[in-house]
Amino acid sequence: MNAFQERDGELWCEAVRLSEIGEAVGTPCYVYSRSTIEHRYGVLSSAFAGLAARIFYSVKANHNLAVLGIVRDLGAGVDVVSLGELYRARRAGFDGPDIVFGGVGKTTAELEAALSEGVRVIVVESEGELRRLDELAGARGEQAPVAIRVNPGVEAGKHSYTQTGHYGSKFGVAWEDSADIYRLASSLRNIRSVGIHAHIGSQILSPEPYRLMLFRLGETLAELRRSGVELQYLDIGGGFGVDYVDGSEIDLKEVAAAVEVVVTEFNLTCLLEPGRWLVAPAGVLLARVLYVKKLGEQNYYVTDVGSNDFMRPSYYDAQHPIDVVARPAANDTNTVTADIVGPVCETGDFLGRGRSLPALSEGDLLAVRYAGAYGFVMSSNYNSRRRAAEVLVSGSTYDVVRRRESLEDLLALEDPPPT
Ligand code: LLP
Repeated sequence: MNAFQERDGELWCEAVRLSEIGEAVGTPCYVYSRSTIEHRYGVLSSAFAGLAARIFYSVKANHNLAVLGIVRDLGAGVDVVSLGELYRARRAGFDGPDIVFGGVGKTTAELEAALSEGVRVIVVESEGELRRLDELAGARGEQAPVAIRVNPGVEAGKHSYTQTGHYGSKFGVAWEDSADIYRLASSLRNIRSVGIHAHIGSQILSPEPYRLMLFRLGETLAELRRSGVELQYLDIGGGFGVDYVDGSEIDLKEVAAAVEVVVTEFNLTCLLEPGRWLVAPAGVLLARVLYVKKLGEQNYYVTDVGSNDFMRPSYYDAQHPIDVVARPAANDTNTVTADIVGPVCETGDFLGRGRSLPALSEGDLLAVRYAGAYGFVMSSNYNSRRRAAEVLVSGSTYDVVRRRESLEDLLALEDPPPT
């Protein structure tokens, strides 16, 4: 299924012309397709349908309340990693048992909030955190439901910044030490070990690293069983990849088959924390061409979307396809190789480099594809730029689900300097 199709020489989102949204809402503007999220949720659920599993959507990928509402209505829980994400999740209608609270550096306030909201699982990443949580839960007269995040020593994921399953990254506890940490947990009065967790990276296109991770988690689970510790949950994190250039995706059924072996042997429910896989293909970012210029032999299309609006190309060197929303005059068949850049005062401010596009003019509208994940959520106010609007398309209608920031919004938290 592809909700972003060309019809009548124009790119549409479901049954709405993107040019209409670009005109009415302005640019930069993120546009999300409801039916794409719903469809992909169905595909993911059916890949894991044969086993006890539940999806806990990873809020960090796209935290808009409208997106959270869609996955809530589909029956998902959420994975949150901060007080802010927990607040969003609660405001979007998720209850404690629908929430997994993770993160490598949770503050005392965050651990306390996780306890008071009664989240299903608190994912613990260090011995220090386990002891802190024991104290906090004890002070409340409660037992904290814990899953230890195990770092299985597996390298996976597209970019080194998003590889999290090897010892060169800060995440989790070393695989070899994991059984010891569970033994420590058993000795702490206010800790209840309910699960085991691993998240090895993002944008993983092969099932192979998951197999290795599951093998290692299985070894830990076997050792725990020998010590009399039985768990309820196997949380395999997220990371399911979608290739933005050729559209290929990880084989989810292969991952599910590998999970099945472990959940059957240890009688566990699998928790999944997908972010990107569900929402990346559901979004585009609209950009307007401001100027066409040439420096020496190099062509530039200067757009109104900066790296503050969309960091992925400059931060990860991510290759997002860029399409023309409305084709220029059909008889203009010239193709131009150009850098598509933004207005931010840095040479690293680009959406794509060396791209081959039809010859464009000022005012033409572009759509950056696969912008539904890690797009708006990573944007900033650098250069005092107002953050973009977000729109949700549902069939033939659309809603602005976050308005563009105003100039007043930019200064809302500051006082004028004394004169
Ligand atoms: N669970 C945990 C514990 C995570 O750390 C993450 C992502 C996920 C689940 C969801 O992973 P996903 O299914 O989306 O791959 N900003 C980067 C991606 C960072 C991912 C961080 N953790 C990017 O734009 O590529």
